[in-house]
Amino acid sequence: MRSSNRGNVDPFIVMDIMEKASVASSLGKDVVHMEVGQPGTSAPKAALDFLEKTMKKDPMGYTVALGLPQLRKKIASLYGEWYNIDIDWNRIIITPGSSSAFLLTFTSLFDVGDIVGLGNPGYPSYRQIIKALDLIPKFFQTGKESNFQPKPEDIYNSDVQGLLIASPANPTGSMLDYKTFNDIHQISDEKNIALISDEIYHGIEYEKKAVTALEITNSCYVINSFSKYFSMTGWRIGWMVVPESHIRRIERIAQNMFICAPHVSQIAALGAFNGKFELQKNLLVYKENRDVLTKGLSEAGFKDIAHPDGAFYIYADIGLFSKDSLSFATEILDTVAVAVTPGIDFDPVNGKTKLRFSYARTTKEIKEGVRRIKSFMKKRNFI
Ligand SMILES: Cc1ncc(COP(=O)(O)O)c(C=O)c1O
Repeated sequence: MRSSNRGNVDPFIVMDIMEKASVASSLGKDVVHMEVGQPGTSAPKAALDFLEKTMKKDPMGYTVALGLPQLRKKIASLYGEWYNIDIDWNRIIITPGSSSAFLLTFTSLFDVGDIVGLGNPGYPSYRQIIKALDLIPKFFQTGKESNFQPKPEDIYNSDVQGLLIASPANPTGSMLDYKTFNDIHQISDEKNIALISDEIYHGIEYEKKAVTALEITNSCYVINSFSKYFSMTGWRIGWMVVPESHIRRIERIAQNMFICAPHVSQIAALGAFNGKFELQKNLLVYKENRDVLTKGLSEAGFKDIAHPDGAFYIYADIGLFSKDSLSFATEILDTVAVAVTPGIDFDPVNGKTKLRFSYARTTKEIKEGVRRIKSFMKKRNFI
């Protein structure tokens, strides 16, 4: 049968590793999961309780395309609480996960052939969604010297029509400081580049609060989600904040593409705002895990580790041990039953010598993962 060139996107390799790890688990192997980018915890109890109560009296039909006004107002209040800024709730649009917010964003802002800049390494689906929409990704190589964020001068010297910033970033956990973010905004403004900020890991920061693009400008698209800080990945619920003049555009596209985000998930998300105590407890676990894993990997012989400012990942160099991160990750899984993600998911070239470790699960699991990785590295005479 006919097929499109646009559909020839690469697989999301972490999903393939997850599949392999779950087959191993089903065969009775006790796998430590450090591949998945999701909390091991459930949605906050307050979310579940509120949903249970509401479901008894509400038939849960479609909501309006932009989402429940109560939820949009709650999210607006989060901007006051987290960043001390006032956001008109009408600018907040509820989406089926942040993944669909990317579809809405790229469809709203770009035409076929437009170039969208993004940091490399980066979240793999960005470049696949860009390709599937017949847009062209332009990669800005990042490294330690720029804290794994695109450099303003590279953006200035480029020919992009759009720019996607992620802070904290996946896979490095690196964050943009206010000044660099502001410089990037100035350049985008001057060169008429549409600025998109993926803020899905906001709330999971360790030393200082992440900067939202909305502290700097209203002329941007901000994308966020209930998946990470709110621990609700499978509920498929996220949001975006757009300039006032773009609300109706997004509403028209969203009506046609999705009708609305799942009603049940919108209700649960509303309830999640009463679960902050539980969510803050999760944060303390991530912080402890980060310290356990950083120390453990260094003891296991990993010399070059990106220090995460936020999110729940460590991106580590394995160039001393292997030039093929996929087979290295497979070997770790097969030998000591620890699932990790090969760097090629995030950077097809330099990622051949990188692994991403997720520390979003319990501290007990992270300690066990570290113990097994050390034993693997000893077996292979790397330490
Ligand atoms: C940086 C980043 N953005 C977006 C997403 C998509 O998240 P969701 O669709 O669950 O909101 C992820 C998922 O891991 C991510 O890491």
